[in-house]
Amino acid sequence: MKKIIVVVLVAIIAAGVMLAYAEEKKEAKAKVDPDTELAKSVERGFALFNDKKLGTNGKTCNDCHKSGGAQDVKMGDMSIKAFDDLAAQYPKYFMMAEKVLTLDQVVNFCVTMPLKGKALAWDDQKLTDLVAYCASVKPAKPEKTEKK
Ligand code: HEC
Repeated sequence: MKKIIVVVLVAIIAAGVMLAYAEEKKEAKAKVDPDTELAKSVERGFALFNDKKLGTNGKTCNDCHKSGGAQDVKMGDMSIKAFDDLAAQYPKYFMMAEKVLTLDQVVNFCVTMPLKGKALAWDDQKLTDLVAYCASVKPAKPEKTEKK
């Protein structure tokens, strides 16, 4: 009889602990703010956009996509347009690759070609962050670009 009481008590305590744990996890999840998470990803992406370690030739994305991609750039015969709501533009035909690409694939195209880096895996947080950043960029106002 005593044994049964002990077993039942232990079971009740264990269930209580598990419930409390589940409740705590739910609360932690509820605290996550989607907008803040996206803002953090964009911020990490911006850091990568200026990171020489992404490639192997000492260049950064920002060397070509000046002002963080917010500016039209002419470099020799290369004409680079300011990023403008890219998430709404892709997938589309990408001239340099001579085929239709997604935004992730364009970013990886620039990681591997101009930066001579290693392509990022589709589930690499760095790829997500770079894409989040690029998609967040709006072209600079003309008076802003003239000052630079
Ligand atoms: C050597 C110069 C160069 C570097 C460095 C470079 N890119 Fe590009 N990128 C280009 C050119 C050229 C294009 C195609 C022209 C265009 O789309 O305006 C392009 C296109 C893009 C586009 C598509 C823009 C659009 O309007 O469709 C994205 C996004 C992009 N690059 C992201 C990046 C990222 C991220 C990096 C760093 C990993 C990077 N690029 C590094 C030259 C460069």
